[in-house]
Amino acid sequence: MTDADLTPYLAAAAANLTHNAPLGEERAADLIRRLAPAGAGWRSLDLGCGNGELLLRLCATHGIPGDGVERDADVAARAQLRATELGVASRVTFHRADAATWDRPAELVVNIGAGHVWGDTGQALAALHRLTAPGGRLLFAGGFYRASPGDQVRETFGDLPDLASLARLTVDAGFRPLHVAASTLAEWDDFESDWRAGVERLGTPEARAFCDRRRDEYLDGYRDVLGFGWLVLTPA
Ligand SMILES: C[S@@+](CC[C@H](N)C(=O)[O-])C[C@H]1O[C@@H](n2cnc3c(N)ncnc32)[C@H](O)[C@@H]1O
Repeated sequence: MTDADLTPYLAAAAANLTHNAPLGEERAADLIRRLAPAGAGWRSLDLGCGNGELLLRLCATHGIPGDGVERDADVAARAQLRATELGVASRVTFHRADAATWDRPAELVVNIGAGHVWGDTGQALAALHRLTAPGGRLLFAGGFYRASPGDQVRETFGDLPDLASLARLTVDAGFRPLHVAASTLAEWDDFESDWRAGVERLGTPEARAFCDRRRDEYLDGYRDVLGFGWLVLTPA
């Protein structure tokens, strides 16, 4: 399947998700608590923000302003609507842009499942280090291997570190890890189910067949092999 063939399915999946990542409510609340501003005047920045849900909750909870950067116009528009629903539209701005071009640092930087904007994990962490103000925090979340992947899984997801190596990469990039955790299997199962449910809503036989393939790929392949790490970091 080409990227163009995939686009409607990815869009339908994203529209059905609160967070486009294996993130449960308990962890979301915990991360927001861990990302409490350490001083006055803090600003948040979410690069590759998708629906912007975590950024919006962060800004709503801590009463701070923020910027979300998202290249997909429909997704950015949905995020702006959600900002209005949550009553933070005057403080949070969504920019339809390539996050790789963003050059204004912030104190609370978020990057969830979008490290590929800059290349590999090391390149993402180097760029995010430049964008995290001294004394600030970065929430970096992305894939790692919990177990050795089969050929098909490696072909799909590429070369990824294990969790300990991912934490070491953040240190190499100039961060000190304050919190390192991984999505649970239950968070993964919920994410995959909700992802497929969004696609099935398209209601076509092709969408259904696509969901069947994705379910097999997950259950036969990357379930409990692909991990998703959540790291709260501060510039060292
Ligand atoms: C896996 S989703 C994660 C979305 C969001 N961070 C979340 O946790 O719900 C990745 C997002 O990054 C966006 N994206 C990918 N490349 C981008 C780029 N170069 N600039 C801005 N956004 C980008 C995609 O459109 C998508 O919404």
